[in-house]
Amino acid sequence: MPMVNAALVESFDEPPHFRSVPAPEAGPGQEPVDVLAVGVHPATRGIAAGKHYTSPKKLPALAGADAVVRRADGSLGYVMVMGAGSLAERIVVDSAAVIPVPDGADPALLAATMNPALSSWAALRTRVPFQAGQAVLVHGATGNAGSMAVKVAKHLGAGRVIAAGRNRARLDELTAEGADDIVQLTPDEDATAAALAGAAAEVDVVLDYVWGPPTELAMRAVLGARTQHTRLLDWVQIGGTGGDAITLSGHALRSNAFRVLGSGFGSVETQVMQREFTELVAAIAAGGMAVRPHPFPLDQVEAAWAHQDAPGERTVILL
Ligand SMILES: NC(=O)c1ccc[n+]([C@@H]2O[C@H](COP(=O)([O-])OP(=O)(O)OC[C@H]3O[C@@H](n4cnc5c(N)ncnc54)[C@H](OP(=O)(O)O)[C@@H]3O)[C@@H](O)[C@H]2O)c1
Repeated sequence: MPMVNAALVESFDEPPHFRSVPAPEAGPGQEPVDVLAVGVHPATRGIAAGKHYTSPKKLPALAGADAVVRRADGSLGYVMVMGAGSLAERIVVDSAAVIPVPDGADPALLAATMNPALSSWAALRTRVPFQAGQAVLVHGATGNAGSMAVKVAKHLGAGRVIAAGRNRARLDELTAEGADDIVQLTPDEDATAAALAGAAAEVDVVLDYVWGPPTELAMRAVLGARTQHTRLLDWVQIGGTGGDAITLSGHALRSNAFRVLGSGFGSVETQVMQREFTELVAAIAAGGMAVRPHPFPLDQVEAAWAHQDAPGERTVILL
C-alpha cells in the first residue's frame, strides 16, 4: 500500500504527531494533489484541540485546515478543508473547491496570509452591504487577521479605517500601513471607551476579532456616542480572542439602526466563497498584503505547534 508522511491528531490534548499513513484515494469529483504549504492558524490549532465547530468527530485525524497545493497539471491551488485535514504530502480534494493560484506565487507566503486575510474579505464582500467610501472600525487590529483587515478594507475602498488594539507598537505600524486612526485598548475602561467614542462613533461597519467583555465595552461606547441613529451599523463577529460570548441589551438593538452578525466558515455559500477567494488570492499574489511565514518542515510538526508567532508572523509547515 503506498504511504505518505502526514501530521496526525491522535488526542485533542496533544500536538499532532509526524506519522506515515496510507495515501488517500480520490472519489468521484475529487482529485489527488501534492501539498506544498499549510498555515498553522488559530482555527487550525482550535480544530486540532477539539475546540472548533469543524473539529473531527473521530481520531486519529489529519491536522491542518487549509493548504497551498500543486495539481496534476502542475498548476497551484489553494484549498480550505477545515476539519477534514490537509497536513499530508498528498491529499484528495473536491476539484470544484480548488481556488486557482497564479504561477509564480510564493506558497509559504500565501499559506501564511490567506486565512487571516479572507476573514475581512469575506465579511466585507459577502456579509454586509459595504460600499466604497464607508468607515470601518477593526476591533482587535493588532493580530494577523485584524492587521490584514485594515489593508483589505482599504483595498476594497473604505474611506476611513480605525484600528483598535492593545499593542501600541503594532498600532503605530498600522498607521504607516494605511490605518487612518488608531485607538489603544487599555485596562483603563473609561479611557478606552472615550477613545472609541471619539474615533469610531459614526462608522458603518465593525470587524470584530475580539468579542467577549471588550466588545461589550466597545458596543456601549460606539452606540452611546452615535449621533446619526438611523445610519446602519453592521457589527460583524469574526474572532473571539477576548471571549466567546457577550451580553447584548435590547436597548442597544433598538436605539440605533444596529445589526450584529457573524462571518466565518459556514456562513457563506461555497460558490460565493470560491469566487471571492479567487480574487483575494490574486490580490495577495500581486503584493501589498502579506503575513510573514515562519517555516517548519513536516517532521517538526510538534515544534511548529509549540512555536508562538511574533506579531506579523504565521507558522507555516512546508512539505
Ligand atoms: N471567521 C473567520 O473567517 C476567521 C478567519 C481568521 C481568523 N479568525 C479569528 O480571528 C481571531 C484572530 O486571528 P488571528 O489570525 O489574527 O490570530 P493572531 O495573529 O494570533 O492574533 C490574535 C491577536 O489577538 C489579540 N488579542 C488577544 N486577546 C485580546 C483581547 N482581550 N483584546 C484585544 N486583542 C486581543 C492579540 O493582540 P495583542 O496582544 O496585540 O492585543 C493577538 O495578537 C481568532 O479568534 C481567529 O480564530 C476568524
